[in-house]
Amino acid sequence: MAPKKLAAGNWKMNGVTASLVELDALAARENGCDVLICPPATLITPAVAHAGEIAIGGQDCHANESGAHTGDISAAMLADAGASHVILGHSERRADHGETDAQVAAKAIAAHGAGLVTVICVGETEAERDGGDTLDVIASQLAGSVPDCATAANTVIAYEPVWAIGTGRTPNSEQIAEVHALMRDKLSGRFSDGADFSLLYGGSVKPGNAAEIFAIAHVDGALVGGASLKASDFGPIIDALAQA
Ligand code: 13P
Repeated sequence: MAPKKLAAGNWKMNGVTASLVELDALAARENGCDVLICPPATLITPAVAHAGEIAIGGQDCHANESGAHTGDISAAMLADAGASHVILGHSERRADHGETDAQVAAKAIAAHGAGLVTVICVGETEAERDGGDTLDVIASQLAGSVPDCATAANTVIAYEPVWAIGTGRTPNSEQIAEVHALMRDKLSGRFSDGADFSLLYGGSVKPGNAAEIFAIAHVDGALVGGASLKASDFGPIIDALAQA
């Protein structure tokens, strides 16, 4: 089994009911690869009704099944709302909410228990890259954030350098290739199906750079923020992946 190509969109804290017209436009296309949109939790259920073949995911879940956790959402609740996937360990959650690798792994176990596919994010800060620590940081986040119950069927890994998110800056092809080769190596060393995990790149992916990024070895797709909000931007990115 080869890794599946996946074009994933993370709407972050953007989108209201009117934004679902973008999903209608994506659902009406011949996409040619798997497409996932992760809208804010408030839109998951209505998004499913607009999504057609497109998968809908959450952007986070709690590690517990239920209980006194005001404002949080459990993995089972996401699944009940119609989500099939959940993004975990995004750098914005690690920074804004102090999420640790261990917490991300606990959330992933809960998500897998609820039948969700996890999109687990890793990525170095600019200071870590400048300090020459990128590969160590990625290896350590991967080891700590991906639980032992991960398989190629229930887990996707996204490499998102923090300094490339929302900045218009991207690593060069060699830098992306180096990290993706490391991730493939680490996953293959740890999991019997490690060669089959889909590995996404994320951080300022746009229609203009998508084809170049998708040509890099072990890049099986993208996790896209800003350019996933409009079908007119995300559509060409999906096409570039389908043709890669
Ligand atoms: P941008 O595509 O807006 O840089 O965001 C990337 C990201 O964080 C996706 O999760």
